[in-house]
Amino acid sequence: MSTPKKKSKSEPLPRRADPARDRALARWFWHNHVRGWLPHILFGIVLMAMDGAMAGVLSALLKPMFDDVLVAGQQDMVLWVALGIGGTFVVRAVSSLTYRTLMAYVAEKVVTRLQLTMTQHLIGLDQSFHHRHPPGHLIDRVRGDTLELNAVFEKIIPNLGRDMVSIVVLLGVAMWIDWLWTLIALVGVPALVLPAAFLQRVVRAMGVRARESSAAASTRLDEIFHGVQTIQRSGTEETETARLSRVFTRFVKARVRVAGGQAAMGSMSDLVAALGFALVMIFAGSQIAAGERTVGDFMTFFAAIAFLFEPLRRLGNLAGAWQNTLASLERIHRLLDEKPRITQPQGDLAPLPQPGHEDVVFDNVTFAYEAEPVLHGLSFTAKAGQTTALVGPSGAGKSTVFMLLTRLADAQSGRILLGGEDITRMDLRGLRSQFSVVAQDSALFDETLRDNVLMGKTDVSEERLQRAISAAHVDEFVPGLPQGLETRVGPRGSALSGGQRQRVAIARALVREAPVLLLDEATSALDAQSEALVQQALDDLSAQRTTLVIAHRLSTVRHADKIVVMEAGRVVEEGNHDTLLALGGVYAKLHALQFSGT
Ligand SMILES: Nc1ncnc2c1ncn2[C@@H]1O[C@H](COP(=O)(O)OP(=O)(O)OP(=O)(O)O)[C@@H](O)[C@H]1O
Ligand SMILES: [Mg+2]
Repeated sequence: MSTPKKKSKSEPLPRRADPARDRALARWFWHNHVRGWLPHILFGIVLMAMDGAMAGVLSALLKPMFDDVLVAGQQDMVLWVALGIGGTFVVRAVSSLTYRTLMAYVAEKVVTRLQLTMTQHLIGLDQSFHHRHPPGHLIDRVRGDTLELNAVFEKIIPNLGRDMVSIVVLLGVAMWIDWLWTLIALVGVPALVLPAAFLQRVVRAMGVRARESSAAASTRLDEIFHGVQTIQRSGTEETETARLSRVFTRFVKARVRVAGGQAAMGSMSDLVAALGFALVMIFAGSQIAAGERTVGDFMTFFAAIAFLFEPLRRLGNLAGAWQNTLASLERIHRLLDEKPRITQPQGDLAPLPQPGHEDVVFDNVTFAYEAEPVLHGLSFTAKAGQTTALVGPSGAGKSTVFMLLTRLADAQSGRILLGGEDITRMDLRGLRSQFSVVAQDSALFDETLRDNVLMGKTDVSEERLQRAISAAHVDEFVPGLPQGLETRVGPRGSALSGGQRQRVAIARALVREAPVLLLDEATSALDAQSEALVQQALDDLSAQRTTLVIAHRLSTVRHADKIVVMEAGRVVEEGNHDTLLALGGVYAKLHALQFSGT
């Protein structure tokens, strides 16, 4: 097992361009997320090409319009030229409407599917990952980073499909009129190469920074809105907004540079255009004045070159847009590349414990969330069918024991056995199904009360549900709810009181009827009367199964078969209530404190 490394919250990304890596990223995106849409994209590109060609057709039509209709006055050409010009606009209207809608559809599909893939992957990652990446940060990565990929379908592919064709056709028209004029008009284009390379680097680096600060802003927003009561009570509204404003400042700076870098390419092509136009005017103008060329020639050429610079400018932006996309792709790929550390074991699985043999053994377990170990060679045994209590001061590592036992995280060294078998060798879901857990802060979801108790279990009879609900004394407050069990409990259960939420969590644990019961301060939020009642129900329940219970209030654990006293990640005393009192150590002191009557 590896030793934990201290990692910063947002790991720095390589800011320098690495073409091989970029190609790999593009390939990954293509193979996993885009390839399935190839027919749609190809159809879109055909339409884009039609749209793109129309500028060339339009400029080519100017020659007959000037030379044949306006100058030579050929009546029979009027209708044809008019039809031709009208036709180009109709083709443009229909094709662009169709491909824009089509590309938006593909973009949304790709992005939402990627969001689902990311969410699914993130749900599978362990506690230390989630400790380093708070919810707001992850929300922003799932929603924000992927959104940047829209540009691929709504900007980059149309740029390529439409603008490339525009450029080729327009260049063709211009060359058809006069290749020398064309060369003169484009004389400045090679000068764009060097600054383009520089601007790409800027856009990429700033793109990464913009995404980083966007995630930081989302994290702050998430914390602000979850802590809104605390903020209001402590009067720190201004402090909070000031902190947020600092994050936003970084974000704005980076975004503006991305936009500026992208736009700079367009502006440089404008300068090149100005130069080209001036030169052509001088050269071609004198030829026309001398009567060597027609006005129609010049009009068509002039229109073609004028039309040419707009797609050229957009194509200039393309490199920037692609760099920005790569910045997001890189971040997305990084997240998806995080290996789930808690995985199904390879090879033969260890059997799940036989009913009645779920002895829990911690054998010299060391564990750290980050660099500092939280558990130092922790060893204790909890016998099957008995109740074992974990007591000790706050921060001793009690909840961490439950975390390891249910494999939300894995120990760095030592072994944890259930029924004599190493839990890391057991089927992961099978292992977790062995436990009914009431955690210190169980999450409620914005669903109905019934769904919150069942948590996706479909094989629960109405009778079993009612039993759990009444044992947890949830039925006490259900009648007062507008739709009874079908009432939605609000985001994170916000429509319920703290004690009510805890009772729902207890009912949820009870309805699982799993062989091992893990209770972490399960009744701490209840009033004395309900606590006594719920405690009675839990005692009844634990009489028939293996139970580990964490409690600060020692009165709840005095009847436990065994009490394990923890301090700073170690076991300092073990025994039952009477032997521990007689020992006169840590437990006896705690007990004296709680029952001194003060
Ligand atoms: N997700 C986490 N990331 C990093 N450190 C953590 C995390 N959870 C807990 N810790 C640290 O691990 C130590 C043990 O925490 P744990 O929650 O196991 O304590 P506890 O004994 O349950 O305390 P309490 O009685 O207050 O619930 C604490 O020092 C805490 O700072
Ligand atoms: Mg705890």
